[in-house]
Amino acid sequence: MEEGSASGTAEMVCFFRALDQQWDGDTSLINDKYARLFLSPKMQERLANYADRSRRDRYRKLLMYLFDWIILRHAAIDDLVRQHGREMFVVILGAGYDSRALRLKDSMRHGVAEVDFPATGEAKQKLLKAGKLDTSHIRFEKADLIRKPLADILSDLGLKGKKALVIWEGVTMYVPQLVVERTIHTIATELAPGSILVADYYNEAGRTGVSVEIVKAKTEQFSKTFKSEPILFMSAPAKLEALGIAQGAKRVTTRTASGIAAAAKRDDFTDTGMFALAEFEF
Ligand SMILES: C[S@@+](CC[C@H](N)C(=O)[O-])C[C@H]1O[C@@H](n2cnc3c(N)ncnc32)[C@H](O)[C@@H]1O
Repeated sequence: MEEGSASGTAEMVCFFRALDQQWDGDTSLINDKYARLFLSPKMQERLANYADRSRRDRYRKLLMYLFDWIILRHAAIDDLVRQHGREMFVVILGAGYDSRALRLKDSMRHGVAEVDFPATGEAKQKLLKAGKLDTSHIRFEKADLIRKPLADILSDLGLKGKKALVIWEGVTMYVPQLVVERTIHTIATELAPGSILVADYYNEAGRTGVSVEIVKAKTEQFSKTFKSEPILFMSAPAKLEALGIAQGAKRVTTRTASGIAAAAKRDDFTDTGMFALAEFEF
């Protein structure tokens, strides 16, 4: 992914979280009260137009349930932060408008760093400042992850040889396979055993009534609207497990949308099968 202005896809997924919070309120799986703060005036206006929850089903269908996946993956990663943030540092790669550092601050006992392109990182910091939010506990690293090696970023953060939970959400599909391999390898070699990488990916083996090609084409159509990049990386549970192990992970597990929804006791999300969440344990 090349940097231009602040990330459009980051705003798109943030818009979904704002919609979810607007529709589900305190029963939302994420309850991201900060999401709306990051939206442009145009998207704020769009959000207001979707205030009525009766629009939720039609909207989800129109987006081929991409909304569902974005909310479910985010909720599952929130759980990992609650589970591991008390014992290790949290690094959010391609953080975009992720608000976990604010929402889950109490669970992040060892600190948190957000890494993104300068344009997105700066736009976010400006909005946080305008919202008068305390961000003194967050390390903002502005870097191009393709150009600056992850090992250097981890070293700048003082994490070499330490344990960390690394979150890589909504990014793998936009990078070549080599970058995925390099990221896993770097975590295996630079961080301490016990570290975790969580990343979502396009699951080409997903069982669905909708073909991979249609979902891919539709997602690229959304991406164009939100000025992002084409899909470069796809995988499948067994394939990603082999790739992860080859790069130094000890264990790789995949969670599906239906698995996450069932664990959360929610039956109002749809699993297209096209996306999945991988947890790499080191
Ligand atoms: C789809 S957005 C996801 C944002 C966030 N993780 C979330 O789920 O809300 C992808 C993010 O990755 C960032 N990103 C993509 N490629 C990057 C790179 N090479 N270096 C730094 N950031 C990158 C983009 O700027 C954007 O914020």
